[in-house]
Amino acid sequence: MRFLFVFILFICTALVPQMAFSEKANTIDELVASMDSSQCVGCHTEIHENWSKSWHAQSVTDPRSLRTFRTFILKGVDKNKNPEVKRTMLRDMCLMCHAPAAFLNASDALAEQIAGLVVTAADEKDAAKKEAALKELSKLDINCITCHGNKAPGGLPMGTWEPNTIYGPGDAKNPPHKDAIGFNTIKSETMKKSEFCMSCHHGCPPGMTSKDCPTQWTVYQEHYIAHGGTQTCQDCHMKGEGGASHRFPGIYEKEFAATAIDLTLTATPTRHFDHLKDIMMPAVVMNVKLKNNSPHDLPHG
Ligand code: HEC
Ligand code: HEC
Ligand code: HEC
Ligand code: HEC
Ligand code: HEC
Repeated sequence: MRFLFVFILFICTALVPQMAFSEKANTIDELVASMDSSQCVGCHTEIHENWSKSWHAQSVTDPRSLRTFRTFILKGVDKNKNPEVKRTMLRDMCLMCHAPAAFLNASDALAEQIAGLVVTAADEKDAAKKEAALKELSKLDINCITCHGNKAPGGLPMGTWEPNTIYGPGDAKNPPHKDAIGFNTIKSETMKKSEFCMSCHHGCPPGMTSKDCPTQWTVYQEHYIAHGGTQTCQDCHMKGEGGASHRFPGIYEKEFAATAIDLTLTATPTRHFDHLKDIMMPAVVMNVKLKNNSPHDLPHG
């Protein structure tokens, strides 16, 4: 974990100077004003429903992430004797993938406020206060615009968001976006490629190997693509009926996770002679075959 922190710090230092910052936001509402997904829900009901059950829809508020952010703030930052280490590091080291909008556009004051909300949402005893903090933070979770408003997904830094624009896979004939909500629809060349997922599911500069940076991306490249694997991240994780599913199952969805392993057990009857008791006993010879169909290490997650 310590390695991870040091490493992420390295990436952030490498990236920050290249980023073009627009005006910084001082409140969460200001920050997410241009990332409002509620206008997509009415027409894309099913996609919205699947997304809302996915881990992406809880990328800040899922209890596992939230508790780890809390520990990072209280132990990693507050207890650190170096005055340079500030709570804004939550923004710079974690939120770049868990809440890209905050990484790109939250002012220092807002970043500190977000860190405070994380501690309240994780530790507060008063249920109403805890709930209120969670509600605020949920506005930062990865939503439709995080993925579809991004001009250059897949590239580091985390792309740039083009206002009033939807980037899509390009299969739709006449999406009514312009008339309905004033949005342009543009075909994105990366949307159907694994590179689209890489920006967040890798996090290391391109070209790094799994030895230095063991991520879903490097393992996929070296142990799957290099051995003839042909499926993209989307092929497996967005497989749906009549369109791409936005449920994004992973290791916590039992049925999906089970597709990773083919387990073949064969048992042949035999007999075993017990010398102590001087008797012949029935026994079996077992053959266990385990095949990993997933391009990831097992166990993982
Ligand atoms: C984690 C990133 C991500 C998020 C979040 C996301 N999408 Fe997508 N979406 C994709 C990708 C990638 C594709 C292309 C899949 C393919 O064709 O292989 C896609 C495809 C689509 C498509 C075209 C394919 C289809 O199923 O008809 C629509 C429409 C769509 N998304 C709408 C939405 C809406 C609405 C939301 C919010 C509720 C949303 N997306 C959230 C990544 C995302
Ligand atoms: C008025 C209804 C409506 C609204 C509002 C709407 N969409 Fe769509 N969208 C559609 C329809 C209809 C299609 C075309 C479906 C097809 O042809 O398969 C579409 C297609 C898409 C596609 C696929 C485009 C492509 O490149 O193939 C994406 C991505 C998408 N919508 C995302 C969004 C997002 C994100 C929002 C919210 C900002 C949104 N939509 C709001 C109706 C809507
Ligand atoms: C480069 C992008 C990136 C950065 C930076 C990042 N994360 Fe994540 N994080 C992810 C992705 C993608 C997942 C989901 C995939 C996975 O579980 O490996 C994830 C998952 C997690 C999980 C859930 C793990 C599990 O399986 O239970 C926690 C907790 C977490 N991150 C905390 C943090 C903390 C704390 C920081 C900052 C120190 C941080 N992350 C920085 C991308 C990132
Ligand atoms: C904007 C950054 C971002 C992008 C782009 C993105 N993800 Fe994620 N993804 C995350 C984060 C962060 C999490 C962890 C959320 C949590 O649980 O807190 C996650 C979680 C997941 C999970 C569940 C992980 C688990 O532990 O089981 C899967 C599966 C997944 N993503 C697949 C994909 C695929 C496939 C793509 C590309 C189509 C993609 N993601 C694009 C950031 C991203
Ligand atoms: C051949 C199908 C397949 C492909 C291709 C694939 N995955 Fe997976 N993925 C799985 C299966 C099955 C699991 C659950 C079992 C496991 O963890 O191996 C999984 C698990 C995951 C998880 C959750 C477990 C963890 O490691 O935290 C994430 C996140 C994920 N995949 C992201 C990706 C990304 C990003 C890509 C593309 C670079 C990708 N997957 C490509 C099948 C696939």
